[in-house]
Amino acid sequence: MPVRLAALACAVAVCLAAPPAAAQPPTTSGRDDASLPLALDRNADPRIVEIDLEARVSDVEIAPGERYPLWTYNGGLPGPLLRARLGDRLIVHFTNHLPEPTTVHWHGVRVPLAMDGVPEISQPAVAPGATFTYDFIVPDAGLFWYHPHVMSAAQVGFGLYGALLVDDPADGVGVADERVLVLSDLAIDAEGRLEPADSGGPAGMVFGREGDRVLVNGRRQPLLRARRGAPQRWRIVNAAKSRYFDLDLDGESFVQIGGDGGLQESPTTSRELVIAPGERVDVVVAPTGDGSARLVLRSLLFNRGYGSVEYREAQDLLTLEFDDQPALPPVPPPTMHRVIEPLSAEGATPVQVVLTLQQRGDSDFDYGINGVPFPNRPIAARPGETQLWTVVNKTKWSHPLHLHGFFFQVLDASGQPVRPLAWKDTVDVPFEQTVRLLVRFDDRAGLWMYHCHILDHADGGLMGTVAVGVPATVPSAHVH
Ligand code: C2O
Ligand code: CU
Repeated sequence: MPVRLAALACAVAVCLAAPPAAAQPPTTSGRDDASLPLALDRNADPRIVEIDLEARVSDVEIAPGERYPLWTYNGGLPGPLLRARLGDRLIVHFTNHLPEPTTVHWHGVRVPLAMDGVPEISQPAVAPGATFTYDFIVPDAGLFWYHPHVMSAAQVGFGLYGALLVDDPADGVGVADERVLVLSDLAIDAEGRLEPADSGGPAGMVFGREGDRVLVNGRRQPLLRARRGAPQRWRIVNAAKSRYFDLDLDGESFVQIGGDGGLQESPTTSRELVIAPGERVDVVVAPTGDGSARLVLRSLLFNRGYGSVEYREAQDLLTLEFDDQPALPPVPPPTMHRVIEPLSAEGATPVQVVLTLQQRGDSDFDYGINGVPFPNRPIAARPGETQLWTVVNKTKWSHPLHLHGFFFQVLDASGQPVRPLAWKDTVDVPFEQTVRLLVRFDDRAGLWMYHCHILDHADGGLMGTVAVGVPATVPSAHVH
């Protein structure tokens, strides 16, 4: 690691240490403001969800009296919640009213390649004023999300993201009180404007720029009202472009029942939940508050690499306030079970994916795959082939690696899929560590992206493709 890079990281840590301009949390009004607007389904067919989605700059209030002109879907932050049932057809009439080209990528959904929203590879970018219709079946239940794939760090950072919830009415979880929580952040400069996407220069890219306003469903520290002891199902997505969340609900337990690709094999209980950018978790909480009138959901300090914890503090995310109804007696944690076949490493093709950072010239840096920034040579795969990826992180920062179009299973130290089994599309590869995963490709031929979901890192070169059933030729640049 060049000495100069370490110096850069210090500079990043110091610049991040500056306190947010408006440090005082907004006072809540006593009204639950942690819900999301639902997209309007204009199709009467119960198995078709058909919506209009417009990207446009719009004035958005993120706290009482605190408004900014953000890049939005349908004028709100986050974009509207899209809700469908397993196997439904989703039709999205998309119009771009932004000053730049954009696309919509359906993160985690196993779409046909032509619907994947990657410019040049799936579709031409949607020019300002132009439209594109996304039309596909949702083949898996779970919480997914949508965001652009053009200048992703800038466009996502300015507010373009929303959640897509695909329900399986037969999932058997049986918790009626359900919330979708979209976690994100926003970078506002000292003049009260959106911070430019290139702030901090190369050091900002190397670290991954985090916003100083931390948001839940587009609000700063919203209020969530709940009955004491009542189980609630929280479907959470981390839509921040660089920030990790390490959730703590004043020590209450989280019963995790699922993640990226829907329900996991069986529940796990913990008091902390780490969610890397791009990841989702599905948890049941039944907070009792131990006598206090409210609880705070906060994000604890999380070490994602050099300079990520020094001079920084935990962030309050939302306040959970108990209503006047009598407390419910304690309920046993959910006992769901999902049958998931473990993928077998036997006969899997070994693939080495080394995440690298290199200095270019005096002060510039490139992230890359095996030393080559995007665009680089694709990983070749046959339809039906199972691959065992060994992802080696040689850098001093963690990278949440995301694969488009396919789920994978993460392996443990002995080479077996981690139990309880779960389908993932994004996995954190901690700094200077190695993660192994198994993935099976199918007959959806074409070039599928994989990249770091710290979007500054993706834009900085940490991105590649898998050529499934097509020649492994280097794609053209600028497909992020
Ligand atoms: Cu959510 Cu290619 O990303
Ligand atoms: Cu990264």
